[in-house]
Amino acid sequence: MKKIGIIVGSLRKESFNRSVANYLTSVAPEGYSFSFPDIGGLELYNQDLDDTPTEAWAKFRDEIKAVDALLFVTPEYNRSIPGVLKNAIDVGSRPYGQSVWTRKPGGIVSVSPGAIGGFGAHQHLKQVLSCLNVYIMNQPEAYVGNIMEALDDSGKVVSEHTQTFLSKYMNSFIRWIERF
Ligand code: FNR
Repeated sequence: MKKIGIIVGSLRKESFNRSVANYLTSVAPEGYSFSFPDIGGLELYNQDLDDTPTEAWAKFRDEIKAVDALLFVTPEYNRSIPGVLKNAIDVGSRPYGQSVWTRKPGGIVSVSPGAIGGFGAHQHLKQVLSCLNVYIMNQPEAYVGNIMEALDDSGKVVSEHTQTFLSKYMNSFIRWIERF
């Protein structure tokens, strides 16, 4: 059983990104398990604590170490990634030389109510993850725009078009991570 860690860049209870992440898990083939490491409980990264990590940091780092692949599903905040997501990435990247991200295959899905599907966040995230040596799948890309039109009132992905797109994305992602 391969383990995939899904990092959702929103803490909002009714997060659209979380809805999309949940849908993605539902269309994955058998043989994969998913976890959603918590990023909301991580204290702000502080280099002074490199030798004395907080409990939440240590737990998060262990959770990331334990997964075989990473799927980032994130909103865009002010044309970049949410601070809470950057904080989690920074926490996982240290102490120097002990990054938990390195050499894991990964994918990025950006989700927005807007038309351009979080393009800015997506590209910034790619930049950060390539520096951390995450093997990001380049194609297909997933910019999921106008998301409110694809969900019902309970937050379920009901648009057939979006369902098909996300299923194809998940198939490609699985093929990608199987290369490693
Ligand atoms: C946003 N939002 C937003 N959307 C977008 O497409 N581009 C952007 O630059 C921004 N900027 C932004 C900044 C801040 C601080 C907030 C709170 C929101 C809107 C955002 O896409 C919307 O709130 C989504 O619902 C967030 O995703 P979740 O929480 O539903 O997963």
